[in-house]
Amino acid sequence: MQNGELQAFERIPVEIYPDATKAVATVAAEIATAIRERQAAGRDFVLGLATGSTPVPLYKELIRLHREDGLSFSNVITFNLDEYFPIGHEHPESYHRFMKEQLFDYIDIPEERIHVPSGEVGRDDVFAACQAYEEAIAAAGGIDMQILGIGRTGHIGFNEPGSGMRSRTRLVTLDRLTKLDAARDFLGEHNVPRYAVTMGVGTIMDARSLVLLAWGRSKAEVIKQAVEGEPRDSLPASFLQAHPSARFVLDEASASELTRNRQPWRVGFPDWTPELSRKAIAELSLSLDKPLLKLVDKDYQENGLSELVTEQGPAYGLNIRIFNELQHTITGWPGGKPDADDTYRPERAQPARKRVLVLSPEPQDDVLAMAGTLSRLAAHGHDITVAYQTSGSLGVPDEEARWAAELIVEASRGEEAVLAKRVLLELDEKGAFDQDTKQLREFKAYIRRNEARAALQRCGVDLSCIRFLDLPFYENGRYRQFQVGEADVSELEKLLRRSMPHQVYATGSDADPSSVSAKGFEVFRCALERLRGEAWVEDCYVWLYRSDGREWAAHQTEMSVPCSPDELKIKAQAIYQHRSQRSQVPVLDEEQTEAWEQAIARNRQTATTYDRFGLAEYEAIECFVRWRP
Ligand code: F6R
Repeated sequence: MQNGELQAFERIPVEIYPDATKAVATVAAEIATAIRERQAAGRDFVLGLATGSTPVPLYKELIRLHREDGLSFSNVITFNLDEYFPIGHEHPESYHRFMKEQLFDYIDIPEERIHVPSGEVGRDDVFAACQAYEEAIAAAGGIDMQILGIGRTGHIGFNEPGSGMRSRTRLVTLDRLTKLDAARDFLGEHNVPRYAVTMGVGTIMDARSLVLLAWGRSKAEVIKQAVEGEPRDSLPASFLQAHPSARFVLDEASASELTRNRQPWRVGFPDWTPELSRKAIAELSLSLDKPLLKLVDKDYQENGLSELVTEQGPAYGLNIRIFNELQHTITGWPGGKPDADDTYRPERAQPARKRVLVLSPEPQDDVLAMAGTLSRLAAHGHDITVAYQTSGSLGVPDEEARWAAELIVEASRGEEAVLAKRVLLELDEKGAFDQDTKQLREFKAYIRRNEARAALQRCGVDLSCIRFLDLPFYENGRYRQFQVGEADVSELEKLLRRSMPHQVYATGSDADPSSVSAKGFEVFRCALERLRGEAWVEDCYVWLYRSDGREWAAHQTEMSVPCSPDELKIKAQAIYQHRSQRSQVPVLDEEQTEAWEQAIARNRQTATTYDRFGLAEYEAIECFVRWRP
């Protein structure tokens, strides 16, 4: 839909697919065609590559085309965008290793045709190495197609905000947000290299065609900026707008903030579904800073909603309808209010005592999003099971493990603490970047289990209800390389069969597809699919929560659970129990950097929004959306 109105907003061609798998199928097919055309002409194809989570599904598809479709890469020359600096090629997080593990080891590309900037050269030689990289690109005839991802700072390659349009391959300092994003991979922010070598914006712009890929809700804001905002230094991806053959290939979640999705009435004549009118009217109320019930026809007409008010108005009727819809989402009874008329309530009144299953991809996701709701469910006597799908061991910094191990050794007076002593030995022997041994991961998992228990205790949840599933996809994997398998799905299937819940709380439906949350959701979805047809499944409500820092918008929310000031305190305490997840280095100059601060601020923000609509004024609100597969 590249119509005139759309072009008024979007400054670069955008393609949107239902999910990343469908998107990469198109891009991979295009690459395959180009490679084959060049093969037929006896020429090379020069492909620019990226690392990170985003291109992983693309590389999987290229490997599949090689294996199943006979696509040969023998005439392909590759140039990667960037590499951390300094870093050894064998370092588990180096992009050299990443590319081998994700692509090169599985295709027939000759080694001498692969180029990745080196993080191994001496500091004094970086400049020359960068120049040589540029020369190698030129010698190959320039890049035919460059694949790009986008960072939350708007970076492309490692061209952080401030990078000039004409910058070339060079050494750069990494942005704080980029380092935070990489902290998990490097097992702590302090392990992330401070620098990187990256192709410049100018180098990237020289490619004959550019394809920027983005998946997941976490990229939605930056995608909007890059597609619809003015080109500017503070958002390097926006420079791509000036390229004659650049396009963005997105999944629905990363495209969700674009005007065509957020405010489709501004780019055409949309189908005014109940959800869309709710969205439009909620936005109108907030943008005019007027409670819903005070909006008048003129407000609609002056703000691009004439069609809506003409078709479905007058304003007063529309206002009341939306007011009631939002009002009906609010409930202090997330498990349903016994003996109440539930016609307009999010949950059913019966059975009064429900079997509730809370799925938390990693420990802490549960309390971040729904500690208040959990407290209420517990207080209302529901039969709760909280299942941690993964151990979360990868998220525990070595320092935390050392702290705990030393404590155990001292407390046992050096006598029996066999595991703890072995852990300390391993920590001494292990380099900061080395992968954890099985034993160390196990020990780190204990830390997270302990934190999870302490957190649930704060919420008043009976601790015997906790299940640690330690799903194999996580235990045997690393970040970005998780592969869901039969063992994962059957484990969850067993749990579902055993607990036969009336309600499931889950997350990850629109997360980055390679994230732990997305994998956790995939496992749940597949397991539930197998059980379809069983009576309890048909009767089960699945409530989606978000723990990734982005709450559901008011127009999407189907259940809003208020928290009192006291409940909010409990929530903060619950999250605070996840000690290993607090920042390792105190940050004094920034506000709300800790997970608990952010979660509380978000829930308060939601309450403020409801208040601005003219609904009741609460301290905080947690939001849920019903999943209807
Ligand atoms: C990596 C690169 C970066 C990433 C960006 C997004 O080679 O150039 O610009 O594309 O940081 O990272 P992910 O894909 O992990 O979200």
